[in-house]
Amino acid sequence: MRSIEEIRNKPGTCLVLGNYRPGIQAILDFDHLCGKEAPSIKAIVTAGTKFQKYFWGKGEVLIPCFPTMLAAADAIESVEWMFNINSGRRARQTTIEFFDAFPSALGGHIFAEDVPEKHAIELYERYQKKGKTLVGTAGVGLLVPGYLKLGVVGGADWRQLEKNNLKESGSVAVLSASGGMINEIITMVASTSHGISFALCFGGDRFPLTSPKDAFLAAQDDSQTKHIVYYGELGGYDEYELVELMKSGAVSKPVICYISGVIGEAFDEPVQFGHAKALAGNKSETASAKRAALTEAGAIVAHSMKEFSERIAGIEKDELKEEAMSLDGRSASLFTSTISKETENGYEFAGSSLPDWAHEGDIALQICSALLGKHPQSQITVDFIRTVFLLSVDHGPQVSGALNTIVTARAGKNLVDSLAAGLMTIGPRFGGAVSGAANEWLSGVTEAKDPAEHIESYAKVKKYIAGIGHKKYRVGLEDPRTAILAKFSNRLPNHRYYDYAKAIEAITTTKKGSLILNVDGTIAALMLDILESEEHYSHQELKELVDADFFNALFVIPRIVGFTAHYLDQKRLDEGLFRLPDDDVLLG
Ligand code: ACO
Ligand code: LMR
Repeated sequence: MRSIEEIRNKPGTCLVLGNYRPGIQAILDFDHLCGKEAPSIKAIVTAGTKFQKYFWGKGEVLIPCFPTMLAAADAIESVEWMFNINSGRRARQTTIEFFDAFPSALGGHIFAEDVPEKHAIELYERYQKKGKTLVGTAGVGLLVPGYLKLGVVGGADWRQLEKNNLKESGSVAVLSASGGMINEIITMVASTSHGISFALCFGGDRFPLTSPKDAFLAAQDDSQTKHIVYYGELGGYDEYELVELMKSGAVSKPVICYISGVIGEAFDEPVQFGHAKALAGNKSETASAKRAALTEAGAIVAHSMKEFSERIAGIEKDELKEEAMSLDGRSASLFTSTISKETENGYEFAGSSLPDWAHEGDIALQICSALLGKHPQSQITVDFIRTVFLLSVDHGPQVSGALNTIVTARAGKNLVDSLAAGLMTIGPRFGGAVSGAANEWLSGVTEAKDPAEHIESYAKVKKYIAGIGHKKYRVGLEDPRTAILAKFSNRLPNHRYYDYAKAIEAITTTKKGSLILNVDGTIAALMLDILESEEHYSHQELKELVDADFFNALFVIPRIVGFTAHYLDQKRLDEGLFRLPDDDVLLG
């Protein structure tokens, strides 16, 4: 087991496995109460959402979520602790996944009850015996006031945390198998002006991962701990471990304890109480026998909860700062924006204040930051976005989108309506194939598809490959835009997506000259290559951009400028309502 002092020296960060909002919020409130600058919880492994929003003091914080441990390990370099709130059936497997993903992690807490005993024994052998610190199962965790809270030990509401003086270390260690009682005793200790040095709940199962013996020795070794307060119960032999430690002198600090369950001796047959091990199968497991053995070893044994409370009150007091941390009145926001915020210096957008953007002067950098949600790492990314925008602004009034804007403008409609007419034209055939093409190239490379099979799979079902084909350009009549964009591949260490797209084109153009890699397909391929090699996006992150339609934004945004220019041009020309000449339409 890691010493309490080592934990104080490096409290570390935590990964939550599973979803239990009150438990997570309690840890965040503890972190904030202790004055930490950031949450100790790095992320949550749970499906169905990318972030969860929690209070951070009176404000709020977004905690990243990952659907699997692998996805979490892909995004997180290291983490020290695990707070495992999965079910008893899944506790073993998820704990193993955690340590496989983070082998240097220090340990964690398993909250679940009904963890099969053979699983608990296996986890003990695999991890606890090799130096990890695992607490549980069927308990409420480990608390080191001022430093680490793993679980709901010490309370699940900020008012409890504050009332229990948990923002600073005290001199009393509180140990128990019982989750409910350990929180009760923490409050008893705190209400008599004492501070907790640490609190550890072994949990009520027969094979606790951190044994009472380990916990008692940890208290003895901890320089902050001056007294040990222990709440035990009938059943099992934990207390006899403590008796041996006290008799041998391994534990010499004062022990104040209460052993519950004397009532069990009023029955002819042993009675099973709440916890799995709370069954006195023989006389030595009874509460009375344990009380007698502890008294004989020198412990101060209370015979009622009232006496227990009085004994605790008799411990010399700790000097504790009485700072209140009222979080009353905090309320959850209705929506979240991480791209824009208001500061005392005005609005920030995509990581810089608007005045800073004006001073910076590079609109391509601003657009790039806006689309990525953060400043790009590479100048190549900015240069590429700038070139894409300059080339995609327009492609003549002939193209369907511009034509619709023009016709709508000449029908006397205003800017927004005329723009909308053009924008509504963008889709799978015109301008809106960039995301589709990115999906084709990403899956083609990731799944190591054979280009010929890829093409055949579409031809069979008579579907078109996004990013391939053009109404104007063809082999022998190259699109000047794709030729300019292609030069970016020379600036990249590798361009596997562009290579794949070109391999597709090499085959499709043998079928028909117009089946070239078009500008949508070229933008998609090179953007994938740049995001992967220059911005270090993972496959998962690229897939999320495809699914979010990020790639189509690279055509839509600049083309809005082009459509607007056509609109204003038509307002200047004012040629009146457009009507297609009859002989341009086949009627009947
Ligand atoms: N993938 C596979 N086969 C195709 C593709 C494609 N993307 N595009 C056309 N073909 C085939 C057709 O199946 C047809 O084959 P067939 O003669 O055996 O029947 C033949 O080529 C001609 O098809 P058309 O639809 O007449 O080709 P057209 O030149 O009209 O289509 C278009 C041009 C609309 C761009 C088409 O190629 C397409 O939809 N491509 C995919 C979407 C896309 O990338 N659009 C972006 C264009 S660039 C821009 O908008 C900025
Ligand atoms: C465009 O950028 O609008 C063109 O590639 C489409 C076209 O038909 O010219």
